[in-house]
Amino acid sequence: MTSSTIGIIGLGYVGLPLSLQFARTGSVELGFDIDPVKTTALMESRSYILHIPVEAVREQREAGRFAATTDFSRASECEALIICVPTPLARHRDPDLTYVLNTGKAIAPHLRPEQLVVLESTTCPGTTDTELREVLETGSGLEAGADFHLAFSPEREDPGNPQSDVAHIPKIVGGFTPECQKHALAVYGPASRPSFRWKAVAWPRP
Ligand SMILES: NC(=O)c1ccc[n+]([C@@H]2O[C@H](COP(=O)([O-])OP(=O)(O)OC[C@H]3O[C@@H](n4cnc5c(N)ncnc54)[C@H](O)[C@@H]3O)[C@@H](O)[C@H]2O)c1
Repeated sequence: MTSSTIGIIGLGYVGLPLSLQFARTGSVELGFDIDPVKTTALMESRSYILHIPVEAVREQREAGRFAATTDFSRASECEALIICVPTPLARHRDPDLTYVLNTGKAIAPHLRPEQLVVLESTTCPGTTDTELREVLETGSGLEAGADFHLAFSPEREDPGNPQSDVAHIPKIVGGFTPECQKHALAVYGPASRPSFRWKAVAWPRP
């Protein structure tokens, strides 16, 4: 894997199509999941998601643009890390951040300067620049916005819509600092079709 590798964490309904879209548009893609059944299936060019054909996985595997792993130390190989893990509703119908924060703890020791971390999981405003930022900074000793880039970009799946295509759904990207936003837009840009519309959201630091 090269320095332009994009890492997607959580290879489910959001993460797997996004991974394949990055791979199709020329990035080298490294997918991470805690479930070895999923990473093994993908490494063997199998799909476990009904609307993702085996050929879509096989094509990218054979092109050498897609691999999957449970080894989070490989996060250091990636230019960008995009988090697509579950956020089920908790007891009071607020998002349960356990998976997001566990992911933050797993990647933090492997973060390096200049990397970009993006949260795509559905959550409350503030999760990225408070809870997630804290675990990333504590575990890495690095500072968001100064040493590494941090952004939020809500996932864009449209379940049940057969015309839906991740490359064509407008994407909103908000950076922790203007520089973080610039990096996030640069990473997502090549994975989008020309008709794709950007909405860059200013997100000044408090
Ligand atoms: N699927 C949709 O259509 C949809 C729609 C709207 C919002 N979302 C949101 O997108 C996010 C992802 O949803 P999804 O449908 O892809 O979930 P999913 O359950 O299909 O996939 C999540 C994947 O993350 C993996 N995972 C869990 N904890 C992990 C960890 N610590 N490290 C690495 N991998 C881990 C799981 O094994 C699973 O493969 C959620 O916040 C969800 O609310 C999804």
